[in-house]
Amino acid sequence: MANKIKLPGLIDVHVHLRDPGQTHKEDLLTGTSAALAGGFTCVVDMPNNAEPITTVERMKAKHALAKQKAVSDIGFHYGSLGDNLDTFEEAAKYSVGLKLYLNNTTGGYMLDPAYLKKIYAAWPQDKVVLLHAEEDFIDVAIESLEGLKRPVHICHMPNREVLDKIIGAKKQGLPVTCGVTPHHLFLNEKDADKLGVYGQMKPSLKPQSDVDYLWENLDWIDLFESDHAPHTHEEKKEGAFGVPGLETTLPLLLKAEVEGKITRSQIIDKCFTTPARVFGIPTDEDTYVEVDMTPYTIKNKDLKTKCGWSPFDGVEVPGKVSKVVLRGETVYENGEIIATPGSSRLLSEK
Ligand code: NCD
Ligand code: ZN
Repeated sequence: MANKIKLPGLIDVHVHLRDPGQTHKEDLLTGTSAALAGGFTCVVDMPNNAEPITTVERMKAKHALAKQKAVSDIGFHYGSLGDNLDTFEEAAKYSVGLKLYLNNTTGGYMLDPAYLKKIYAAWPQDKVVLLHAEEDFIDVAIESLEGLKRPVHICHMPNREVLDKIIGAKKQGLPVTCGVTPHHLFLNEKDADKLGVYGQMKPSLKPQSDVDYLWENLDWIDLFESDHAPHTHEEKKEGAFGVPGLETTLPLLLKAEVEGKITRSQIIDKCFTTPARVFGIPTDEDTYVEVDMTPYTIKNKDLKTKCGWSPFDGVEVPGKVSKVVLRGETVYENGEIIATPGSSRLLSEK
């Protein structure tokens, strides 16, 4: 174990694995392979597929695909455009949470905020509702929490303005949690200029003063979510929003640890303990990852994600996941996926 560290199998509650419908850029095998390569043993996939996951049939079809393809544990968030509340009770049996988009993003499944209260009442009270609410919708989102008892998670906070409003809601005791992506912690507006189309995502990259503010307020940030959002080179050139993140999140956080910006226990808290608690994801001690702390350079050609690129190509990081053990079985070792597709566990399959 010289030069190796051990961490619990990490949990990412916000990924877009594109299956079914857009498997030219990711599928449930390549996406969960990227998860293992990045130290994540459990991911929760978003509903903005080519056909949105807003019916029980589509949700069941996704489960059937995962049963054939997944190599990490996986769960799914359900979606709503306000017209499927009668399906919630049944759909919730197959769902980790319910994702609602107030802003426009990949897929274009924007919800009219007038539906929020009805949706909060209809979705099971012990299951999280996740909101995509950027600067222009954060006030509506925070107002919707008034008097609420049920958990709501605000995804990918990008800047001071949004974080301050969430801190205000937390100080009032409202049942809200929030997440930050690694790209909003490790990239800024200037990087967006250099990266061109590869630096475009929702929410957009912000000035360094906002990035600094996120780092200064880590204690208010409940969890990290990669928002792994693969697109092909061609799609990026045509303006698609989103960047992959599953394979770079942990190495970047370990780099921040070496630089004294975050502690090991904060990394574990925000990539394991808190996501497990907030989303009710079971954990066990025989699920862990080993990281070989030998510096290496992130390279597009080494990635398992089908899109084959990262905005962090060329960045030197202090360590790489060398082994992943899922419930006592080695599922990944030295770059190789060892797990049989379909052998991992599905969350919320009832
Ligand atoms: C995501 C995608 O491509 O599915 N894109 C992104 O820029 N983050 C959608 C989303 O989470 O907004
Ligand atoms: Zn997303």
